[in-house]
Amino acid sequence: MKVSRQSPCKINLQLNVLRKREDGFHELATLMHPIALCDDLEFTECSDGIQIHCNHPELNSDETNLIHRAAKSFLETARITAGVLIRHEKRVPLGGGLGGGSANAAHTLLGLNELFGDPLSLAQLHEIAACHGSDINFFLQDGPALATGRGENIAPCGPLPALAGKGLLLINPGFGIPTPWTFSRLANYPAAITGDATRGPALVEHLQQADLQPAPRLLFNSLEGPVLPKYPILAAYQDFLQANGALLVMMSGSGSSTYAITESPAAADDLRERFILHFGTDCWVRSLPLSPP
Ligand code: C5P
Repeated sequence: MKVSRQSPCKINLQLNVLRKREDGFHELATLMHPIALCDDLEFTECSDGIQIHCNHPELNSDETNLIHRAAKSFLETARITAGVLIRHEKRVPLGGGLGGGSANAAHTLLGLNELFGDPLSLAQLHEIAACHGSDINFFLQDGPALATGRGENIAPCGPLPALAGKGLLLINPGFGIPTPWTFSRLANYPAAITGDATRGPALVEHLQQADLQPAPRLLFNSLEGPVLPKYPILAAYQDFLQANGALLVMMSGSGSSTYAITESPAAADDLRERFILHFGTDCWVRSLPLSPP
């Protein structure tokens, strides 16, 4: 038997850092939205071990790979002695703030649970997910959601009519930014730490009421504080996208990807052409509909 899954990524519509915690993590409130850019995963049972075959030359297939770590925890928790062969077609840029690796881990848990006849409950999958990273729990469900705590507490918020029919332009500059670096630099940007937990629910409410007007005030990413001064090219992308008709422009997650929301998918195509004319073809640029896969 073989199980195949698409592993989509996300953008953060708001990433609000509330405070630094005693355990070294940061308390967050972040509105995440899945997007239709996916890796493919395929799972087959084998006699023993965890073997990962990936098309991306920079991804290790050993225990440092999040897919490997999720698979190992799954097999141990479910007391399964068989092994698994995992084929991974990578399309989401690495280290881009799009949650590609976290999504892979979540879909490995879901895929293996299906392959072995659902030995674990969703609550058990959530427990494993939270041990391996802050964004993984989000990908165990498939809609927009407000994540709190480290990012592991997920409150799904249903369809967001304000975003219906909109387009998305996604830009990756070709370099990744390590998440620990971005968070560690926050101490130098105290204004980026808001302490205001009301702003996530306020954004959700506006987007649920098809109201995009107040969104620019509520669509913000605290992590831009440390990232944009260090990588001015990302600020230049944002300025260009704002000046060329994007409705909203922001960095996703801890960077390096930038996104623009446009009035329609056609407007995102048009913005893509203009972006490439201006910045050239060096970076990775995709236009997509802004709807879940
Ligand atoms: O949980 P994840 O592996 O995605 O986090 C990577 C790093 O980002 C953590 O080790 C921590 O330094 C930082 N982080 C944080 N606060 C969070 C999430 C991540 O400080 N809520």
